Amino acid sequence: MQNTPRGDCRVHTASNPARLAGSAEGNQTLVTVRIGFAGAGGVAVTHLVNLLRLQDAEVVAIHDVDADRIAGCVRRVNAQQDLGARSGDETRRLRPKAYTDYRAMIAEAGLNALYICTPPSVRGAIEMAAIEEDVALCVEKPIALRLDRAREIATAIRERNLVSSVCYQVRYSEAVTDAHKALGTRSVAMGLGFMLGGVPSVPWWRVHSQSGGQIVEQATHAVDLMRAFMGEVVRVYGAGALRVHGEMPGFDIHDTAASVLHFANGAVGSLVNTSVLGGGSAAGFPTGLHLFAADYRIEVWGGTLKVVSPDKTDETRYNASPMLALDTDFVDAVKRRDPARVRTSYGDALRTLAVTLALDESARSGKVTEVPRV
Ligand SMILES: NC(=O)c1ccc[n+]([C@@H]2O[C@H](COP(=O)([O-])OP(=O)(O)OC[C@H]3O[C@@H](n4cnc5c(N)ncnc54)[C@H](O)[C@@H]3O)[C@@H](O)[C@H]2O)c1
Repeated sequence: MQNTPRGDCRVHTASNPARLAGSAEGNQTLVTVRIGFAGAGGVAVTHLVNLLRLQDAEVVAIHDVDADRIAGCVRRVNAQQDLGARSGDETRRLRPKAYTDYRAMIAEAGLNALYICTPPSVRGAIEMAAIEEDVALCVEKPIALRLDRAREIATAIRERNLVSSVCYQVRYSEAVTDAHKALGTRSVAMGLGFMLGGVPSVPWWRVHSQSGGQIVEQATHAVDLMRAFMGEVVRVYGAGALRVHGEMPGFDIHDTAASVLHFANGAVGSLVNTSVLGGGSAAGFPTGLHLFAADYRIEVWGGTLKVVSPDKTDETRYNASPMLALDTDFVDAVKRRDPARVRTSYGDALRTLAVTLALDESARSGKVTEVPRV
């Protein structure tokens, strides 16, 4: 690979059907998982740094509509690797082929797996093209902004028995694993979900047609975790408002919402979300998910767990990166061609999407909204 002025990558746009084998002949387990990326923005950098730590993963190609974004992403990742090398860690460098045409990438790069890190409004065509070539998918949340398109993709993944993972990384945290153990067979009466913060810097986030709004785009993590502990949601109602960011250019989503969720097992939940707390003013407020059972209470999120029972309160902090655990499990699932080795498949995430779309619809219409069965 030659270096270009833009970084460690060259841009390829021509189609060349040279699908390379990433597998040991006649062996069910892949030796090296050849990985491509679609979307070279902020979250891609996080996954790429993780994947460079996994010896059985090789990122061979990155697609973005903007070639400069690919070069910038590769530079950022390799700069982090250089920092690690200076402090004595063994590090690998990222040297992918760069593609502005995803069809060329899928045709040429011999991928076993593809990370989808594009904004949610442009999802669909790339996933379908990859599925047709039996490429496993790791998809950033939210999987889509429309249920019908996501349903088609979920069906295609199921029909081909492909590995799929959706980046609800909190499910991979040690805090969540220990919360499940602590809860045991107790029945949850009520769950409270919190997503309180500021406006992310990406310009598409504040535009409803591009992000779906904060519930669909961000509070989806809290809704997904509620489902993991409390089961399926059947009906929701909510209220949303634009109270602070009305003057921000392009901002057409609610900056504040409060919702109620009815679960199939009779439990109830509540979700509050806001983006008015930029600059650290969310500090000290509740985060994540709070679960209430008979004389028992759990507060859980990525790095923290608090369990309150009548005679004691246990608080634990965890350092392991949930996203690294998610990336590790995905690569392992692809290597073993085993869709069951991930914690949130595309089909599972489809149900979270159905709930968040219903919550957004209810907050906008003010009406009780049934969650469609998917
Ligand atoms: N799991 C998490 O905690 C987490 C954290 C951050 C972001 N995300 C998710 O990751 C996704 C991307 O977020 P981000 O912050 O990286 O956004 P970003 O804007 O930084 O990056 C998106 C990239 O996609 C590219 N792109 C846009 N349209 C494209 C198209 N049609 N084809 C190919 N590339 C295209 C853009 O040029 C950009 O480089 C979103 O769905 C977001 O919700 C998840």
